[in-house]
Amino acid sequence: MELYGGRYLLCVPLKNRFRALFTLKSVKSDRAVDIIAKAFNDPSALLRHELAYVLGQMKNPHAIPVLASVLATLNEDCMVRHEAAEAIGAIGLEQGIPILEAYRTEEQEASRVVRETVELAIERIHYEIAQKKDGKEIDTFGAGYYSIDPAPALETKQKEGSKIKEMSTKEVGEILMNTELPLFLRYKAMFALRNRHNEEAVLELAKGFADESALFRHEIAYVFGQMQHVASVPSLIETMNRPGEEAMVRHEAAEALGSIATPECFEVLEKFKADSAQVVKESCMIGLDMAEFEASGDFQYAETVEVVKGDSIPEMKGETRQA
Ligand SMILES: [Fe+2]
Ligand SMILES: [Fe+2]
Repeated sequence: MELYGGRYLLCVPLKNRFRALFTLKSVKSDRAVDIIAKAFNDPSALLRHELAYVLGQMKNPHAIPVLASVLATLNEDCMVRHEAAEAIGAIGLEQGIPILEAYRTEEQEASRVVRETVELAIERIHYEIAQKKDGKEIDTFGAGYYSIDPAPALETKQKEGSKIKEMSTKEVGEILMNTELPLFLRYKAMFALRNRHNEEAVLELAKGFADESALFRHEIAYVFGQMQHVASVPSLIETMNRPGEEAMVRHEAAEALGSIATPECFEVLEKFKADSAQVVKESCMIGLDMAEFEASGDFQYAETVEVVKGDSIPEMKGETRQA
């Protein structure tokens, strides 16, 4: 099967398109970026937002013009535009800042989700530039999560006189929920809690579903998908059932349930696989596919190497998380 030309991303079942996309993500070449860019005319907003996410994770500057044009398409779904802005932040280059600056204020940008994403992405670029300047590492994946995140994890070791004190999970949770603090700092707390990977941290994170920002709530669900901790399941199910909850948040909850993949998760995904919100419906289908993958114990979620021709495929490390 010839993948290149991008036709594979357009004409086969959604779940296979997602798997193909994960393969391209691991290639990271300019050519892979160009193929992904061609799929932005796909009818599925879920796939389009995933394309943007993957372009950011590839960290290839060649993707910046296409991401800028997705962000500039005002009639594009806000979930897709959000992901394009976040991806520009993930690439982490100074040239991304003026692109993002055009969507910062209410006068410039009507969508709160996009504005908040832009705020975070600009902060992330400043952070990455500062780290590089100091010769420090970024995106070390030290906590075992293979993603470039919208914010680094908060440094929770604090100096108290001559002693080093570790912040308690509760204290980090207080930063998470303090709406007086900048969003970037609250996100840093979110990723610090993720990295603790215990039940107490999950319960602190679950409080974030009460936040009034849909962006914030969707990120909590994203983090739960990464953690794959069963203690998050009740709050994810509650999110799926919450009347009036944004599709962007419910979509993320569905994918998280798909990656946790207990029988209870399957049940919820089955329940919502015909949801009236298209992205939720499709996420349940993808979630069920991922759950099948998790249950199968297969090595990697992406399509096999034979499907893709022309580039070498590095090891995938079993990374299945989505945007
Ligand atoms: Fe998403
Ligand atoms: Fe997102």
